Amino acid sequence: MKGRYTLLFALLLLLSASFFVARSHATDESDQIVLQAGGPAIKVEQSEKFEFQTEVSRLMHLIINSLYKSREIFLRELISNASDALDKIRFLSLTDSAAYDTNPYLNVSIVADKATRTLTITDSGVGMSRKQLKENLGTIAKSGTSEFLSAIEKDKDKVSQIGQFGVGFYSVFLVADRVTVASKCNDDPVQHVWISEAVSDFTIAEDPRGNTLGRGTQITLHIKEDALEFLEEATLKELISKYSEFINFPIYLWATRTETVPVATEEDVVEKEVSEDEDEAAVVDDELEGEEKEKEPKTKTIEVSEFVQMNTVKPIWTRDPKDVSDTEYVEFYKALTRDTSDPLSWAYFKGEGEVEFRAIIYVPPKAPANYYQTLSDMQRTVRLFVKRVFITDELGTDFMPRWLSFIRALVDAEDLPLNVSRETLQKHKLLNFISKRLIKKAIDLFHQIAKTEPDKFTDFIREYGPALKMGAIDSQQHRKRLTQLLRFASSYNSSLASIGLDDYITRMKANQTSIFFITGSSVDEIEQSPFLERLLARGYEVIYMIEPIDEMLVQHVPGYNGKMFTNIAKGNLKFGDEKDLTVEEEKEQIEQFLPLTQWLTTVLSEYVEKVVLSKRLTTSPMAIVASEHGWTGHMERLMAAQAQRPDSQEAMMYNMFAHAKRILEINPSHPVVERLLQRVEDGEADDETKELVTVLYETTAIRSGYTLKDLTGFTRRVETVVRKRLGVDLKKEAEVKVEIAEEKTEEERKKDEETKIKADQMVEGMSRDEL
Ligand SMILES: *[C@@H]1O[C@H](CO)[C@@H](O)[C@H](O)[C@H]1NC(C)=O
Ligand SMILES: *[C@@H]1O[C@H](CO)[C@@H](O)[C@H](O)[C@H]1NC(C)=O
Ligand SMILES: *[C@@H]1O[C@H](CO)[C@@H](O)[C@H](O)[C@H]1NC(C)=O
Ligand SMILES: *[C@@H]1O[C@H](CO)[C@@H](O)[C@H](O)[C@H]1NC(C)=O
Ligand SMILES: *[C@@H]1O[C@H](CO)[C@@H](O)[C@H](O)[C@H]1NC(C)=O
Repeated sequence: MKGRYTLLFALLLLLSASFFVARSHATDESDQIVLQAGGPAIKVEQSEKFEFQTEVSRLMHLIINSLYKSREIFLRELISNASDALDKIRFLSLTDSAAYDTNPYLNVSIVADKATRTLTITDSGVGMSRKQLKENLGTIAKSGTSEFLSAIEKDKDKVSQIGQFGVGFYSVFLVADRVTVASKCNDDPVQHVWISEAVSDFTIAEDPRGNTLGRGTQITLHIKEDALEFLEEATLKELISKYSEFINFPIYLWATRTETVPVATEEDVVEKEVSEDEDEAAVVDDELEGEEKEKEPKTKTIEVSEFVQMNTVKPIWTRDPKDVSDTEYVEFYKALTRDTSDPLSWAYFKGEGEVEFRAIIYVPPKAPANYYQTLSDMQRTVRLFVKRVFITDELGTDFMPRWLSFIRALVDAEDLPLNVSRETLQKHKLLNFISKRLIKKAIDLFHQIAKTEPDKFTDFIREYGPALKMGAIDSQQHRKRLTQLLRFASSYNSSLASIGLDDYITRMKANQTSIFFITGSSVDEIEQSPFLERLLARGYEVIYMIEPIDEMLVQHVPGYNGKMFTNIAKGNLKFGDEKDLTVEEEKEQIEQFLPLTQWLTTVLSEYVEKVVLSKRLTTSPMAIVASEHGWTGHMERLMAAQAQRPDSQEAMMYNMFAHAKRILEINPSHPVVERLLQRVEDGEADDETKELVTVLYETTAIRSGYTLKDLTGFTRRVETVVRKRLGVDLKKEAEVKVEIAEEKTEEERKKDEETKIKADQMVEGMSRDEL
């Protein structure tokens, strides 16, 4: 019996000893954690307090005080940040061989400590100087901050997109109420700490521990009471594996596992004592219960804690594409872009010959918010690697043209020099070659979607249709293949932008050489247009162009596959099979209507330059058409919207064109036109007829898409017509008895004053709370 107790005691001792060894690392960590906001280790005279920039402060306030479903994304943000920092130092080392001297490692390590309730993430990246700490983490708002603020104010789930707005760091306040960032970079001899409790200010101080990092950044999160799950090893393992899958540096987690080990020397002593009782060998488990376990102390299980690598670092694009699954491509897209939804499509390809490279192109599911307004700022389209080393994601529009900047791509080149500066590299001629290949492959990919996945292509056109049009305008070289991809609504199917020009040409009529189109702000508006009448009646298909960029498109792209674009609201419309009238007959008709056209030209001289007989009207009496180089009504409205500033170039153009006179087309078969001709010929065209014609002209202008310059005159004229038809005296005014309102009483005045004071106080209180 005594022997058994001795054994038990010895084993317990051993186990706790091994446990102690295993925990010792974590204990070290907790020593460091003494350094917390307001903690005793920081001397006041060394530290300096800064106010957060207002928007940053609002952002933190919003993040720390709201409950979010996807809090775990903070880990994704910190891991990507660490990876970016490592990319940067690796890049610097290419031209500065001493860059690694301060710390030869390139890794990220993550340690959770339940005792101190802290999570610590350390990278040996480029690090931050005191100035960078101050600017990056608080005093200079990133351009995306306010955009992100309004996004999460509208929809809380958008918080997971924080990384796309460049403010990913602040997601730490989803789970932590105190954060310490220690950082050391090669340019600053001193290691600094940044401390924040997510209030309006933060502190920066010289790190009292000295230079413990050599180089890099260490972020310590003091985990909130309600987020303790993020200290659980199982949770961390799952999240870190998920977020570090495509990180090209090792990510280590301090993890504990159990291990069965042979009994050590002290036990040999114990064993001798025991072996007198029993000879059989057996395995002892943790709990040490039951008779048999006492007997056989040859092996035992212990807890071993160590850094375990959570990712494999072989980049996805270096693997044989046959071995990379679709899921992996999708996940890689998310890691690459920090987007939370799946890409619409992607392509992998290898460049060989002149320059060897591998590339992956992704089409994101949605164009970024404000994509079409901020085109010139969109530059982080392509991540360039050279021999697996990240070089830059700021290649600019020389590399990837503006119109294609919606794609996301990764390029890893073999033949580019590594030992030159980023600027020199950016001008390298091989990059030009890669750029060409990339653009061509992207267009191939779009064609492939069009051919094989019609539903996806519909989504693609909805998001990127205007970008393709921009491409067709900008790039002579790719114009044909891009124009081929364009989709429009048309009179054949007006419900969706689904008609390609190839389809249109297939349905063209005999001897038709023009692609007929009309522009407008909506299909509904276009369908009311008088210009459509004759074409539709004759069975021609007309393309409906309803995007603002379309007017520009047809100015730059004259036609497609030998057919010219023809705006049916402009100039002299030709069908290609004209035989309604011979030249003689036409001449005759013109002669016949000459009195009316001359009379109209005089009456409407203020508005029109020319009156001609129409070939495009069937049911309307008249229409206003733009001259070959003039503006259509739709174009005029577009330009008016752009000409807001009176001294701008747009405004000057606008004034020039908008005051240009127009061409009035009249329909010689229309009864109203026939009657007018008769009146003119009979000398009965009096002032009243002039007034009626002016009203008719004005309604025609509206239907043709133009805006009226003299709205008051127009309404007055319409009222006159109505009065005449109803037999109401033109001079008679409405008789209304008007009562003058009384001044308010002294009492009411006082009450209003009081309400105002109360409201002011409330506003003041609110803004104090916000701070
Ligand atoms: C990771 O880098 C640190 C230095 O920042 C180093 O001390 C540590 O040994 C490295 N870890 C591994 C597993 O290489
Ligand atoms: C995290 O990354 C952002 C850019 O995405 C950078 O501005 C910020 O300084 C980084 N923060 C840390 C703590 O590394
Ligand atoms: C870069 O390396 C190449 C060969 O390795 C060498 O010829 C060239 O001079 C180097 N350029 C610079 C700027 O160091
Ligand atoms: C027009 O397109 C819509 C949507 O693709 C389709 O449902 C409809 O059947 C089409 N109509 C014709 C006439 O093709
Ligand atoms: C098309 O043009 C040819 C040659 O000019 C002509 O013979 C033919 O009649 C035209 N077809 C129609 C429908 O106008």
